Amino acid sequence: MSLSIVILAAGKGTRMKSSLPKVLHSISGKPMLFHILDESLKLTSDITVILSHKFDLVKEQIESSYSDINIVKQDLQNYPGTGGALKGLEFKSNKVLVLNGDMPLVKSQTLENITSIDADIAMTILELEDPTGYGRVVIKNNLVQEIVEQKDCNAEQKAIKSVNAGVYCFSAELLNSLIPKIDDNNAQKEYYLTDTIKMAVDSNRAIKPIVVNEDEFMGVNSKYHLSIAEDFMQDRIKQELMESGITMRNPSSIYIDSRAKFSGECTLESGVIVEGECEINNSHIKSYSVIEESIITNSDIGPLAHIRPKSNITNTHIGNFVEVKKSTLNGVKAGHLSYMGDSNIQSGTNIGAGVITCNYDGKAKYSTNIGKNVFVGSDSQLVAPVTIEDNTMIAAGSTITSDVPTGALAISRAKQKVINGFFNKFFKKS
Ligand code: UD1
Ligand code: CA
Repeated sequence: MSLSIVILAAGKGTRMKSSLPKVLHSISGKPMLFHILDESLKLTSDITVILSHKFDLVKEQIESSYSDINIVKQDLQNYPGTGGALKGLEFKSNKVLVLNGDMPLVKSQTLENITSIDADIAMTILELEDPTGYGRVVIKNNLVQEIVEQKDCNAEQKAIKSVNAGVYCFSAELLNSLIPKIDDNNAQKEYYLTDTIKMAVDSNRAIKPIVVNEDEFMGVNSKYHLSIAEDFMQDRIKQELMESGITMRNPSSIYIDSRAKFSGECTLESGVIVEGECEINNSHIKSYSVIEESIITNSDIGPLAHIRPKSNITNTHIGNFVEVKKSTLNGVKAGHLSYMGDSNIQSGTNIGAGVITCNYDGKAKYSTNIGKNVFVGSDSQLVAPVTIEDNTMIAAGSTITSDVPTGALAISRAKQKVINGFFNKFFKKS
């Protein structure tokens, strides 16, 4: 059986109240549309995405991450609606699976089950306590009769709690014959894809309803829905990670990007945030630390540390209130209150409390290179570009502006004066 997948993503998404097109809003770090594309690609390479609203922006986003996705522009002016989205298309495969771009939680396995059902149309149904906003599915004697949109419902139909989840698998031959027949004779003056159901019923076609769950098939129409979908996705990501052996303390307080990868034995304490394409191997991330787009291996980080993008940290101890950005640290100890930006720090090196790499002069960024077995005393500033070679010491409180050769001590601070008897003179005490 050959399968085409069509993803509807042309709508304005008015209810999001955002300048960003709805399908580009992210769930767990990835645009909703990309979640559904990734699952779709597990089933077929024949994928068409229907766009219109902010066409260039969405197309560019898709093309920057995927090749070979067929992108079609819907004529929203003349043919608005989910049925309008398919006007002019003709499918050559056996089956066509129609998905919505605002449905980020669906899993490929479930989609595969839907496509394997033997019917002219298999359609998905949610049983909801509150069906508001969805199309109601009229079922008589266990057979689907039609789908009526909320705005077209009479009072009796409005009370129906079986709603259209918006995913359908059509026989391509049937869909090709129905697309030209969809009209806009309804309350919203839109071409509804849902009208194909009644047309198919009228020509005695077999329509199989499949009951699905909200935790996969909820549609995101507002920022509130987005937050609910995010919670579902986070639960799923964390459950899979814990089942693979990652320890999480108070997991509901933890956020993990869908693109993050973990290996070995890792522990994440309360409030940890892992953003972007991180790789965390055999490491312990302590409470309230934020890790962004970095690689952490055999290390312990935090509590309350901030590891910013493009850091690569191995065999290292990072303590509280330490910020690292775009730096490579291998075998380093930085226990307290320091900033390492655009730096490369090698094994056996200790970064004292309050050490700052001054990596920015107001115009450009510069790098700091620190070799092996360097002792950087507390409260030192390393003014980049600067190189500190192996086996050196930086005295506490130094401002280092020039390179330090192997074996040296660098000290740069004003000499201390001691003035005896000053206190009593100053406060005029005898
Ligand atoms: C649609 C269904 C409704 C179902 C619900 C499930 C219709 C007429 N209604 O309603 O029965 O319960 O989904 O979530 O199909 N889109 C286009 N072009 C358009 C309009 C929409 O591509 O002209 C895309 C949107 O970008 C979105 C998807 O189709 O990804 C669904 O559109 P939306 O406006 O959210 O449909 P609903 O009103 O939710
Ligand atoms: Ca919707």
